[in-house]
Amino acid sequence: MFTNECLNVNEQGHLTIGGCDTVELANEFGTPLYVMDEATIRNTCRKYKESFEKYYNGNGMPLYASKALSCKEIYRIVNDEGFGIDVVSGGELYTALSANFPPEKIHFHGNNKTFEELNMAIDAHIGVIVVDNMTELNMLNQLSKEKNIRTNISLRIKPGVDAHTHQFVQTGQIDSKFGFALETGEAFYAVKLALQCENLVLKELHCHIGSQIFELSPFTLAAEILMNFIIKIKNECNFLVHSLNLGGGFGIHYTDNDTPKPYDYFMREVSAVVNKMAEENGIPVPYIHIEPGRSIVGESGITLYTVGCVKDIKNVRTYVSIDGGMFDNIRYALYQAEYTVLNASKASSKPDTTVTVAGKCCETGDLIQENVNVADPQPGEILAVLSTGAYNYSMSSNYNRNLRPAIVMIKDGKPRIIVKRESLEDLIRNDI
Ligand SMILES: Cc1ncc(COP(=O)(O)O)c(C=O)c1O
Repeated sequence: MFTNECLNVNEQGHLTIGGCDTVELANEFGTPLYVMDEATIRNTCRKYKESFEKYYNGNGMPLYASKALSCKEIYRIVNDEGFGIDVVSGGELYTALSANFPPEKIHFHGNNKTFEELNMAIDAHIGVIVVDNMTELNMLNQLSKEKNIRTNISLRIKPGVDAHTHQFVQTGQIDSKFGFALETGEAFYAVKLALQCENLVLKELHCHIGSQIFELSPFTLAAEILMNFIIKIKNECNFLVHSLNLGGGFGIHYTDNDTPKPYDYFMREVSAVVNKMAEENGIPVPYIHIEPGRSIVGESGITLYTVGCVKDIKNVRTYVSIDGGMFDNIRYALYQAEYTVLNASKASSKPDTTVTVAGKCCETGDLIQENVNVADPQPGEILAVLSTGAYNYSMSSNYNRNLRPAIVMIKDGKPRIIVKRESLEDLIRNDI
């Protein structure tokens, strides 16, 4: 019935996740509530790990892109599964370190890392800093010099690949704020400069072409372009780049319009390009990193809301208002992201009513989804929005001074809180 493997419907007709009744979860923990299934996260991690064994002889490591969901427990889980992580701010780095994540398995991204963030990353002895621009390259070299150390770096390259996804989540094209452009010669110049920096060690080249991508060709093309660049650097600078990070971006199932292929398929095809080009050019296969975020946590999560008022505007539309909104899921307001919504209180009933699910914020655009079919939602019933494990909690806010929901993780049929619901005291903690 569901593509999300952790979901089902029980005898009461209630939606279940990881074997737990969602209506009972809503009663016990309150709504809005993020609920996640640990087995789904771990299974996905294992699939990626297995593909590294199969296609790269274990010569590499997947990194979890923690912008998808950053909290201490998720760092513990992915560490347990043998993943590294990437972080994009001092805040994500701090969270990971406070969960005892091994610093050497942390890569630090960002198009405008601050001096304080670079300082923090160096002092924590993290694995790699992914340098985005010349300003950062110089700042990092200077900082490393002052500390009398050599810092491992990666260079973020814009390969000029057009990934067929929403323009807000495309990153590989030349008109992007991220990284060094290949076409203009900027990337090659950055490599030459990095090689001259005495306090930097160029370890890796990195690219990330976008997010929620279903097609294979942008991935294989990016791999080919980066491998060609590694070969050019070897030939023209007599320097062999040790590793290659091919980014994340693997698409997941939000609605039946989405037809993701197994991740193993991408890994097989991309590795074939990398391995073949290495062999043909007589260079060792680089140590491989990838950075999936959405695909690790997305489908493992759902959000539960309680229906408040149902406003039927004749010949216009029916608004179903819920106790959450853009403060816990901004993705529809931001880029019309599609979701599957269902009535968790009567999940086996026919989705016979077309509704617009509206949040409780003072914004007309505060919608979770428009024109979705749901089984006749009534006040007090529980609505579930599926595949909200990624980029929901991590993008949440206190807009209108709403409280961020709790996250409950299910394991072996038992729920546990991994992030507490915010309190009113939390809201005014920093107010003077
Ligand atoms: C540099 C980088 N790596 C990895 C990711 C993760 O992408 P996804 O969650 O689509 O796998 C992103 C997403 O924006 C990114 O910018």
